[in-house]
Parts: sequence; C-alpha cells; structure tokens
Amino acid sequence: MTSTDPNMPSSPRSCLAIVLAAGEGTRMKSSKPKVLHQVANRSMLGHVLAALKAAGATGTAVVIGPDHEDVAKETQKALPEARIFVQRDRLGTAHAVLSAREALEQRTDDVIVAYGDTPLVLPETFAKLRAPLAEGAAVVAMGFEAKDPTGYGRFITSGDQLLAIREHKDATESERAITLCNGGLMAIRGDLALALLDRVKNDNAKGEYYLTDLVEIARDLGHRAAIAVVPEEEVHGINDRAQLAAAERMIQDRLRHEAMAAGVTLVAPETVFFSHDTRLGQDVVVEPHVVFGPDVVVEAGVVIHSFSHLEGARIASGAGIGPFARLRPGASIGPKAKVGNFVEIKNTELGAGAKVSHLTYLGDASIGAEANIGAGTITCNYDGFGKHRTQIGEGAFIGSNSALVAPISIGKGAFVGSGSVITDDIPDDALGLGRGRQIVKEGWAIEFREKALAAKKK
Ligand code: UD1
Ligand code: MG
Repeated sequence: MTSTDPNMPSSPRSCLAIVLAAGEGTRMKSSKPKVLHQVANRSMLGHVLAALKAAGATGTAVVIGPDHEDVAKETQKALPEARIFVQRDRLGTAHAVLSAREALEQRTDDVIVAYGDTPLVLPETFAKLRAPLAEGAAVVAMGFEAKDPTGYGRFITSGDQLLAIREHKDATESERAITLCNGGLMAIRGDLALALLDRVKNDNAKGEYYLTDLVEIARDLGHRAAIAVVPEEEVHGINDRAQLAAAERMIQDRLRHEAMAAGVTLVAPETVFFSHDTRLGQDVVVEPHVVFGPDVVVEAGVVIHSFSHLEGARIASGAGIGPFARLRPGASIGPKAKVGNFVEIKNTELGAGAKVSHLTYLGDASIGAEANIGAGTITCNYDGFGKHRTQIGEGAFIGSNSALVAPISIGKGAFVGSGSVITDDIPDDALGLGRGRQIVKEGWAIEFREKALAAKKK
C-alpha cells in the first residue's frame, strides 16, 4: 500500500475511551469499591486502563460514583492523563456514559465504552471492536456465546446485522432462548455518539437509561449496527468474590502461557502465581509452588526453586533462588549468586557469585562479589527507630550464626568468626571475633562424674 492510496487513513483514528466504574459492588461485601479489587496484583480498573492505553485510545474518561475518592486516585495512578467524571445518580449505563458529556463534546473518530469490572479484555479486542466503525457502522456491540445467558442482554440479529439488544428483564420467552449475549463493551462513531445517547429513554423494566438502546436508535436513523464476537472469558464481569477468584484463575493461566511461550520452563504451571508485571528471561526455570508479587525482573537462566516468594526483586542471570527463599522489595541478586533455603533478603544488593545458602536475614545491606554468608547470619538493621546499613566487602567470609549490628562495615576478604556479635567495623583481610572465649579443662568430666555418682549413693 502506498501513501497515495485513498483508502489509507492519513493518521490513525482518534478514540475516546469511556470506562464505567460507578458500581458499588455490594455483592463483594467489601469496604472498598469493586473496581479497586485486584487480579494478578493490579486493580480491575488498572487492567482496563492499561488495555485501553495499549489499544491506542487517544483519550480516556473514567466515570466514578460519588465519594469514590480512592477510585479517582487509582485512576490517576494508573493513567495520569485520564479525565474523571462523577455520576451522581446511578440511572443506567447510557446515563453513566453521558456523565462524560464534556469529553464526548470534543469529537473523536471513535468512542469506546468499557466496564471497570471487566478486566480480562485484551487490547486487540478493543481494536476488533472499533474496526467496523471505520467501515461505516454507527454502533458495534461486543457479543459472546454464553454458557448460561441469564441476566445478560440478548442479541437480536438478522444475518450479520444486529437489530437490537434486549435486556434479560425486558426479553420475551423466545428471546431469552438466544445465547449470543451482550458482553457490555461498545464502540460508537464519534460524530454520532452524543446525538444517539441523548435519544435514550428509560421506558423499560428497570426504569434505567440503557446503553444497549443505541442499537435500535441508530437503526431507526438509518445507520448500521455490527457485532464483534469474543470468547466468553474476555467479557467475564466481576460482581462477587467467586467471580474475582475465577478472573484470577483466567489471568494466571494467560500469564503462565505467555511465560512458557517466551521460553520459560514452568515445571507445574498451575502452581506458579505471577503478577501482571512479572518479567522473566529466556531459559528461566520455575519449580512448583512459587509466588511472584509485584515488580519482579528475572534474567536469563535463573532457577527459582520450589516454595519461594518474590516481590520487588531483580535477579541477574544464572543466579539460583530457594527453595523456600523470600525476596522482598529492593532485593537485587547478582549474576550467578546463590540464595538458599530459609533466606530472607530485603533492600540488599548481593554481588556476583556471592552465596547466602541457609537460614539468613539480610536487610539494608550491600554484599560484595563472591562473599560467603554463613548459615544463620542476621543483619541487625533495625534499632526500634531507624534502619541502618551493613556493608560487606568482596570475598568476605561471615561465619555461621553471626549477628552483624548495623551500621557496620566488614572489609574485603575479611573473616567473621562463627557465633560473633559484630558491633565494630572490621578492616580488609582482618578477622573479627565477638563471642565468649572458649576454655578447655582437661579431665574435668571424669572428676564431675565421680562426684555426682558419690552424691547419688549417699
Ligand atoms: C449490562 C448490559 C447487558 C450486558 C451486561 C454484560 C446495559 C443496559 N446492559 O447489563 O446488555 O449483557 O452488562 O455484563 O447496558 N454502571 C454505571 N452507572 C450506572 C449503571 C451501570 O457506572 O448507572 C456501570 C456498572 O458499574 C458496571 C457497568 O456499568 O460496570 C454495567 O452495569 P450493570 O448494572 O452491571 O449492567 P448489567 O445489568 O450487568
Ligand atoms: Mg453487570
């Protein structure tokens, strides 16, 4: 295709996305608004906003309920450029969309409506939804084949034409038998959106302003309505905790498949839990029962052994983690370093090839390359008021069961004797010992036993 092709748009179509997030979510039985509940460590709303951004929305409006300051905050965090509108009275989906009237007045080519409680929609689905608009359709509704259509709006069709969407409560017996249902997402031609929305009335079983009425309104005005069909999973809406758990299952499955497709070995994928932002390099091996919290980056060739829990961590190539390791925010593990069982690491850089093999806590520390941290080492980083740093030089050797009282610095190549409580800095290549001196009494046991036996015979 050349740039002179008359069918080639000179620039991508502009698109306003309106996200309806005014739901109370009473069935969640929660003190926080429904759309703030998380799947894969990101709020439902955050997922929707990220997908819209990836889909190329040029503007976004989020419609929130009154007194939902925290939803406004989450919106600002997830997508700072989004505009926020408040729907004071909950009078239906069309009314909610019209709450963003000011945004609609700034005409875009396309308008898409998404729900804040439907977080599994993929960016490419938004593109699929918009596509018929470029071919002249006035409205495009997102449909799916429902296993159980109860409660959903039904698509009334003729061939590939969408004639109307009938809400469950308003549908006749025969209409209720239809299984092609409305997923809720809709795309509307930007130049028509306000005119169509302003025609919606609330003369239906619920007395609400239905967004779904746009289909018939557009057709009455001589326009065409189209359908985009997606798998039911993508339009999975969340109203209660069981549906939230189902969404988590689906999103975890996606993340597992993505990881494996990118060259990661998951020995038992169904037991590994990812965060939406987990990044894993090629040939990473994740053994069964590993949990990734937010913000973890793992480079190529790392092995994460079973029962490890990681969040806010960076792991360089070739390192080994676990089993039973806990990496907390600020853990930065160098190339080929080893973190063994029952080791907790927080806000600490572990140098290349360093080893922390067993039963250790490292917090607020910096450990040089090739250092060896013995079993049971503890950085005493907290004095009840503030946190203090521990510095350990390259190639240092920390004997087992030592307490390093921060702030403290242990030099390159230095040794710490086992069982020490170290409170003073140790220079390079020195030995630091901080423990009771051992004494040995020859023959003491013989004398002791004789006395004890004699006492017993009395
Ligand atoms: C809606 C659709 C139905 C579709 C179903 C898919 C309409 C009229 N019906 O029905 O065809 O099958 O979704 O899940 O659109 N909201 C507001 N303000 C309101 C009303 C709703 O923000 O005044 C938000 C809700 O928080 C929710 C979304 O809009 O995120 C959908 O509203 P809901 O009441 O769940 O609509 P349904 O009856 O499920
Ligand atoms: Mg609903």
